[in-house]
Amino acid sequence: MRAATTVVRQKDLIDVLLEQHALIEELFQLVETSRGKAKKEAFTELAALLQAHEEAEAEIVHPLAAATIDAGIEVTQERLEEEAEAKELLAQLIKSGPGSAAFDDDFQQLRASVLEHAVHEERYEFKHLRASQPPETLVELADKFLKRQKRLAATA
Ligand SMILES: [Fe+2]
Ligand SMILES: [Fe+2]
Repeated sequence: MRAATTVVRQKDLIDVLLEQHALIEELFQLVETSRGKAKKEAFTELAALLQAHEEAEAEIVHPLAAATIDAGIEVTQERLEEEAEAKELLAQLIKSGPGSAAFDDDFQQLRASVLEHAVHEERYEFKHLRASQPPETLVELADKFLKRQKRLAATA
């Protein structure tokens, strides 16, 4: 009997980005529903992931989108502005820390801003990159993206 052959598509850059968006959303939820030490730990994890995610996107994803999709420069400029706004909010939250009086309101603002930004990336960048880039390029870029994040985490 012949063994069934299944072609498993290798994880590409867009898969990695979408997975991280989902994880970021889960961590926002976890911070919101946790208290005390658990909240602090979830926030630390969220902050680290957000920083590494946005930084690697700014280095790898947005330049590729700017160069290859229609109106790429304008589209990525808007994304970079959203990232700058989120970065500022995140820095404020890290400074005040979970448990401070201002934290919960600022946290909701960050959450709304980051999740809206993620929707924009998925709609205006990722969809077009998946359609325009060769599959093997996107697989290679997944590896490059993850390696870059590891290096960023090591120097954080
Ligand atoms: Fe981003
Ligand atoms: Fe993103």
